[in-house]
Amino acid sequence: MCGIVAAVAQRNVQEILLEGLRRLEYRGYDSSGMTVLNSGALTRHRALGKVASLAAQLATSALPGTCGIAHTRWATHGKPSEANAHPHHSSNQVAVVHNGIIENYERIKDTLQASGYSFTSETDTEVIAHLLAEKLATGLNLFEATQQIVNGLGGAYALGVMSAAEPSVVVGARQGSPLVVGVGIDEAFLASDPLALLQVTDRFIYLEEGDLVELREHGDIRIVDRQGNAVERPIQTFEHGDGAASKGNYRHYMLKEIFEQPDVISAALEGRLSDSSVLVESFGPDAQALFQSTRQVHIIACGTSYHAGLVARYWLERYAGVPVQVEVASEYRYRHPVVPEGTLFVTLSQSGETADTLAALRFAKTLSYIGSLAICNVPGSSLVRESDMSLMTRAGPEIGVASTKAFTTQLVALMLLTLSVSKAKGQPEQQDIVTALGALPALCQQVLVLDSQIETLSQAFAEKHHALFLGRGAHYPIALEGALKLKEISYIHAEAYPAGELKHGPLALVDSEMPVISVAPNDDLLEKLKSNLQEVRARGGQLFVFADERVGISEQDDVRVLTLPHVHEALAPLLYTLPLQLLSYHVAVLKGTDVDQPRNLAKSVTVE
Ligand code: F6R
Repeated sequence: MCGIVAAVAQRNVQEILLEGLRRLEYRGYDSSGMTVLNSGALTRHRALGKVASLAAQLATSALPGTCGIAHTRWATHGKPSEANAHPHHSSNQVAVVHNGIIENYERIKDTLQASGYSFTSETDTEVIAHLLAEKLATGLNLFEATQQIVNGLGGAYALGVMSAAEPSVVVGARQGSPLVVGVGIDEAFLASDPLALLQVTDRFIYLEEGDLVELREHGDIRIVDRQGNAVERPIQTFEHGDGAASKGNYRHYMLKEIFEQPDVISAALEGRLSDSSVLVESFGPDAQALFQSTRQVHIIACGTSYHAGLVARYWLERYAGVPVQVEVASEYRYRHPVVPEGTLFVTLSQSGETADTLAALRFAKTLSYIGSLAICNVPGSSLVRESDMSLMTRAGPEIGVASTKAFTTQLVALMLLTLSVSKAKGQPEQQDIVTALGALPALCQQVLVLDSQIETLSQAFAEKHHALFLGRGAHYPIALEGALKLKEISYIHAEAYPAGELKHGPLALVDSEMPVISVAPNDDLLEKLKSNLQEVRARGGQLFVFADERVGISEQDDVRVLTLPHVHEALAPLLYTLPLQLLSYHVAVLKGTDVDQPRNLAKSVTVE
């Protein structure tokens, strides 16, 4: 998704902005650009492709100046091109960077064109530059002009704007897309993601919906709310160290993040379990009462987070006895859901800024839920701020577009939720699961040791065009997640089915060209799964089985087996995720794809 970074400083800001853009690359983008104010003139470079292309332009023609804005664009209106890249200017008097979508831009554009403004891009954003120029021409300053025009913008936006007439001012506005102010020493910054600014500050103000901010010389920061009232927003210190934003010794962020899982799973558990019991208060002071009265749970999320929700359905129904519905946010938000009495609304999101999930939460708040809980990786994100309760997954920044550690820590959080709901309802403690959770990081470490074996296995996939993933019970969502990972980063078409569903259609696809990947934990569905695998073998399919050491599935000509350590049945979905992540990773590396920034995808999907 698009990214914004802006600075008003005492020093040259070009390198600060450029480094900010590099740090935003993980979000996915197709072009980038920068405008810096130099001796009263707005100077700009824009480039199609990677930030490195913009850096190359800056190396031959620098943009010196102490005030500037920069952007990475992910195309929504208008193809990826230099002309469509931000910042957009109006007569070199105003420069604008924008995340989000202006839904009513066509009508505004018609009016502006009728007034004589000409457009140089196909974007929705350019209307903002001309609207501001129009207001500035009436004698308003940049802040006042921005305040007036935002009321007429429909849709979602985070904005950073500057004017040639006001040398040390950047104005920002937020409505539906995240925007943070970085508080420096005698300097101030703006970004759509705090990670973009960690090289200059770790102190941030998270703007609220409707906020407008003005950054001036000497670090002056003024914020007004939607009604125009001056407001103070708290300064928060960023929790994750800057080290998280580097690859360390790993070839890709994704691999680093896969290998971080033992540590982040420990972090997700820390302080949330006693020796034999879950600490319900981890979810907040009201959790005990809320969970006690919870009769149903609705879980809403997108993509990988949705798959975590599907696993939680099996857990909450089996271990807490509570019926659960799980749905993708983009469907839920346009339905007319029936909310039975006593239903808890749960959202899952790595970023906490996913537009569909946020919209679903806002919609749910108009319905009769007993409360909302966000399970999220980003403290201070919109989802966390707008939910009644939240539990942080503590995965640390996830840079690879394909979600890995965020998913497994969501699963940990969801198991804590399951145990907490069960405990709050006075059901017998699930001590064995609590004990198994404590042992989980070490088991994950054992699985990661299998990396080189999985790398060898991956060679069988490099030339394939399709793959089928199978699982049963809580491992069906793990098969879905395995297929999504393979699709996303290796571009191999992959599908996932509950293994028992095979004979109802997908078996027709199975032949010697179709690798079939199955997870085979030691659970009560094992014998059923074994029969399904025989159905594949009988059709000449190539089987790849990730199997518990105790299940006795042996390697044969047409069956490759990777043996995993035994794990408590309840936690197997967590452990079996890891080899599937590694398999996708190695296949993608063999295919030479852009592992951390796969084509067409964005990290944080802040548009609908
Ligand atoms: C896939 C992936 C996406 C996200 C989805 C939701 O690897 O990362 O499917 O899971 O876009 O994002 P969050 O969790 O930030 O709401």
